[in-house]
Amino acid sequence: MTGRTIYLETFGCQMNELDSELVAGQLARLGYAFTGNAADADVVLYNTCSVREQAEQKVWSRLGELTHRKNRDPSVVVGVLGCMAERDGVDLIRRMPVVDLMCGPGELDKLPALLDNAVRTKESLAEQSPARRARPAEFVALQGNTSRRSATLAAAEDSLELLDLSRAVSPVDPASGAASRSAYVRITRGCNKFCTYCVVPFTRGAEIHRPPDHIIDECKKLADAGVIEITLLGQTVNHYRFEHGSSISLGGIEQPQKGRTYKGSHQRDAFAGESTTTFADLLARIHDEVPAVQRLRFVTSYPRDFGDDVLEVIRDHPRICRYLHVPAQTGSNRLLKKMNRGYTVEEYNDFIDRARGYLDQPELGRPLMLSGDIIVGFPTETDEDYAATVALLRRSRYKNCFIFKYSPRPGTVAYDRIPDDVPDEVKRRRNNDLLAVQSEISDQIAREQVGREVEVFVEGPSKQQLKREGMSHGDIRRAGGAITLTVNGNSPTLEAPAPPSRGASVPGPASPQVATLDAEPVQLSGRTDTDLIVFFNAPAEQRDALAGQLLKLRITGADRLSLHGQLLETQRKKLQTPSA
Ligand code: 5AD
Ligand code: SF4
Repeated sequence: MTGRTIYLETFGCQMNELDSELVAGQLARLGYAFTGNAADADVVLYNTCSVREQAEQKVWSRLGELTHRKNRDPSVVVGVLGCMAERDGVDLIRRMPVVDLMCGPGELDKLPALLDNAVRTKESLAEQSPARRARPAEFVALQGNTSRRSATLAAAEDSLELLDLSRAVSPVDPASGAASRSAYVRITRGCNKFCTYCVVPFTRGAEIHRPPDHIIDECKKLADAGVIEITLLGQTVNHYRFEHGSSISLGGIEQPQKGRTYKGSHQRDAFAGESTTTFADLLARIHDEVPAVQRLRFVTSYPRDFGDDVLEVIRDHPRICRYLHVPAQTGSNRLLKKMNRGYTVEEYNDFIDRARGYLDQPELGRPLMLSGDIIVGFPTETDEDYAATVALLRRSRYKNCFIFKYSPRPGTVAYDRIPDDVPDEVKRRRNNDLLAVQSEISDQIAREQVGREVEVFVEGPSKQQLKREGMSHGDIRRAGGAITLTVNGNSPTLEAPAPPSRGASVPGPASPQVATLDAEPVQLSGRTDTDLIVFFNAPAEQRDALAGQLLKLRITGADRLSLHGQLLETQRKKLQTPSA
């Protein structure tokens, strides 16, 4: 046992959340303990995001705060993990000497060794003179593997695969410390799309597809440990394709996607033979081979890579959720070209229509819900471009949409070649106007749900409930058990996110329903298979026991952007007689 305590805070996307979970699992097995309070920790780690400048600034300010503590207590070890470590490298240490170790997203399997090294360096320095102690002589910075090779070949050689394979079979809920019934499983790493505004291809490297047998094994292990909801992760998750037995490079930067070019060939993957596992094959295999998984989802999808084979598999496999997150980024063809997105608005619209044609069956209780990402204020964006984006938003009818102001990122093509010429006030105005349009749509969609019966995956007490119980924000963060992970300054499962969220959110008051069960019901939040959040009351004595369960509710109200539900009578009876 090391006896050391770690504070690990995660910024950014779900991929980072998964990385943090895997890293924490590895370190816990080595005897490190975790705390939700940075002030109590011997080691402070930030798993960082570089997608927008704002995310980086949060980390800079956290590091600034740590400088004061380190002046008082030089023994604390500070590490920067993830995209900022990869992108800023040695510059980061120069600018922020408080940092002792850095580890890019492609090298996280080596973190235990790096940390051990940093801790030992600290200990030996502590025994030396104050002058030598002032600054450790060496720093550990590992850059990821960003070489661009055949995706299948790279997976075979990929040491990071070990990190995914090393996963603790019993994932821990970051909020409660209890075994989690919901888990992420990575299927691809990296990205080959090179959208001109985006750092991900540089920070996460070339796209690599994990072997399907590894993925299925991981899903089975998770299911054996009680997981009933799995979300498959990839930057362009539906681009997944594994060539079996491939031992030669398959052609440079882009892994061949035969039969996947958008025009005319989306009907079927005509070139996929016995030796290929397509994304559609993978979904069907997980569904059929891991029946204990009640909900299978995937994010984030790339609009151009949706073959009809994938839509058919979703339609024909009832435990695959009818929820697609498919960012359009803009509604202007001129800007789509400048962004290097590889599709037109017409093609995007065609995809939405195909998806709805296959999957939107509200009359059978199986609606399709979509969500999107939009960037406003991309360089040269005119009022006309912006109007086209508003039109796309209205047509797409997302249940929620993440809206971002363009943030120029050093190293990207847009940063180097297209001046950031849309004034910030214009970006802000467009951002707010677009949020207002999306709120209107989200609100309509919420109201359409009233009266429907849905099944929700219970996430736990709503944030409103925790506040009512007198928990401060800090308490909510520290509510964890064995391993506490902090995401973007919050504990992710305790937030009651009202759509839209992430980019910028419209406030949606979650007013508690009138008590209908016992004297003092508690308000819980749950998620439908289509990713809608529903607040409902449950008996107080079941406050904790219901987390991670699937419960049937009727939607009774849509209060601005929040849905409220009531347990169905049959469900209530079951809860009153738990043995039934
Ligand atoms: N500026 C603003 N938003 C960005 N995104 C990616 N890069 C940038 C950038 N430079 C957004 C895209 C993407 C989401 C994860 O982040 O909308 O889908
Ligand atoms: Fe970035 Fe584009 Fe890849 Fe998404 S598809 S991660 S926006 S480069």
